[in-house]
Amino acid sequence: MAGEQGESSRREPGNELEQEPKAVGPGPTVVPVPFVHPSEAEFARILDFYGVRWEYEPRSFALQKQGDRVLEMFTPDFYLPDLGLYIELTTLRQSLVTEKNGKLRRLRELHPEINIKLLYRKDIHRLLARYGFGPLVQAGAPGLQKVLLSGDQIQKRVFELGSKISEDYPGQRPVLVGVLRGVICFMADLMRHISLPVSVDFMSISYYGHQSAVRITKDLDLDLAGRHVLMVEDIVDTGMTLNYLLQYLSSKGPASLEVCALLDKRARRIADTSIKYVGFEVPDEFLVGYGLDYMEEYRNLPFIGILRPKS
Ligand code: IMP
Ligand code: MG
Repeated sequence: MAGEQGESSRREPGNELEQEPKAVGPGPTVVPVPFVHPSEAEFARILDFYGVRWEYEPRSFALQKQGDRVLEMFTPDFYLPDLGLYIELTTLRQSLVTEKNGKLRRLRELHPEINIKLLYRKDIHRLLARYGFGPLVQAGAPGLQKVLLSGDQIQKRVFELGSKISEDYPGQRPVLVGVLRGVICFMADLMRHISLPVSVDFMSISYYGHQSAVRITKDLDLDLAGRHVLMVEDIVDTGMTLNYLLQYLSSKGPASLEVCALLDKRARRIADTSIKYVGFEVPDEFLVGYGLDYMEEYRNLPFIGILRPKS
């Protein structure tokens, strides 16, 4: 549904109530938004950081009507026009979450064309923790819960990925582009299993909280024009980093552009970009090791482990 920004084309008279958008961001036209909860403001800042446009509560849906009277309605918190996605943030207790899930189910039944995702407060906290903020960080680094993928499992899969990539680019000289620093172990192993003459380049980007928008802190050294580019990622979580970087890389005029990600945390996807090569689909847990860090620790573990949640 990306690009379907013309709300009017989707309006079905009688099924919804119109409202003026309360705010649109990012950009110079942003007006102060009366966010109901600080998590919403934080989420808006994260979207701004990745350059993902958002509208706050732009549209209400009638869930139940009696004649002309609307008995129940639902106003998702955000709409992300570039992604064609509504986001409902919930900061509620479990009992109320169940009620909200019911509302979402009814919304999906009545408007199957609507793409909506429910984010919990813990999702926002985990996003923040990645950058060293929020309540999870104050709880301190909690240690490992268990090993998710052993060193052997990783090596076997990386070998398979390397072989597949070698088959898919016959006679080519692809450029592998990695984003520092999480990708170091994966890149080092993957490139050694590709039996083609490859070039390797790295980029670095600023972290959320240090800047108000993604900034490239180390740019490409190679010219990608006309090259077959394979972007190598450690883990795709919300997909917002990948979404940003793919736009950047395609602006360099590559002959082709594909993605190889060791780990895919599908359940948390917000920006849904297609990933050609995936090592492992992983559960919605915070992972460390084999290059992945929690506040710059654990990168040197030879396996991938799950960080224990705070008790
Ligand atoms: P995304 O933009 O939400 O997809 O996040 C991508 C980046 O966040 C990755 O390249 C990692 O650096 C980091 N990240 C996401 N999930 C994890 C995790 O479970 N452990 C460590 N880093 C993560
Ligand atoms: Mg709300």
